[in-house]
Amino acid sequence: MKQAALSVHKLNVSVRSASGTVNVVKSVSFDLAAGEVLALVGESGCGKTKTAEAIMRLIPHDIGQAQADTIELNGVNLEALPEKRMRDIRGRKISMVFQEPLTALDPVFTIGSQLSSVYRRHRGQSKRKARASSVDMLDRVGIADSRRIMKTYPHQLSGGMRQRVMVSMAMACQPRVLIADEPTTALDVTTQAQVLSQLVGLGHESGTSILLITHDLGIVAQYCDRAMVMLHGQIVEEAGVTELFSRPQHPYTRELLAACPGAAVL
Ligand SMILES: Nc1ncnc2c1ncn2[C@@H]1O[C@H](COP(=O)(O)OP(=O)(O)OP(=O)(O)O)[C@@H](O)[C@H]1O
Ligand SMILES: [Mg+2]
Repeated sequence: MKQAALSVHKLNVSVRSASGTVNVVKSVSFDLAAGEVLALVGESGCGKTKTAEAIMRLIPHDIGQAQADTIELNGVNLEALPEKRMRDIRGRKISMVFQEPLTALDPVFTIGSQLSSVYRRHRGQSKRKARASSVDMLDRVGIADSRRIMKTYPHQLSGGMRQRVMVSMAMACQPRVLIADEPTTALDVTTQAQVLSQLVGLGHESGTSILLITHDLGIVAQYCDRAMVMLHGQIVEEAGVTELFSRPQHPYTRELLAACPGAAVL
């Protein structure tokens, strides 16, 4: 079998709460194949974001703790890396589009300077080349007046525009793996479809594997190859999308499907 782009084995995450430590991700294991779009689906609070943050090693010590047998990115065990190496890999080899785009963008720098800095830092481009690459990337994610947008600050943009900017920043380095955490939840249906198509399209072009976190089965049906269903921190079912929709095994998956009849149109 071909080596997985991302291989997670027995990932556990616990968070501190007033009443003690709570296990919110329980023994999660999966492989993400090269070029694959894999969905992580489940209700609010089931542990999707914590799974993503743990893979990215972004869970602050005061919030909780992650532990896994292995988290391998192209055969490199991320868990064993010193933080400095991990910082280098984050963004370059594995990147994430966050659920809250405002918190992920720096309010004091223009979109142009933030996006250009990705091209300069991770791809070693000159200032001029990085600006050109940034304008090009903004065009590709469907931003019409990209030159003007380069000069704006995050708070001046609509939610949809910010998500497009986040997608461009995450894809700028052509990472091996992209984790997209509900990247379009806050958007209207049309914008949602555009942003997701661009994300998946860019992924296909650059051979990036995508872990797409969502609670929307319509999105799973339309954009994903395979899906994992998460319930209370555990993966209860994993299958190819066609199989999942035609022969759901777990009662919770059936419940999800029954609640979303439109998603069955494949
Ligand atoms: N900072 C935190 N401190 C304490 N508990 C937290 C913290 N963040 C998340 N949790 C808890 O961890 C569990 C998993 O949270 P997580 O954010 O991974 O859920 P999710 O599946 O991403 O939900 P949503 O669909 O709403 O984004 C939840 O029960 C949540 O209450
Ligand atoms: Mg979440």
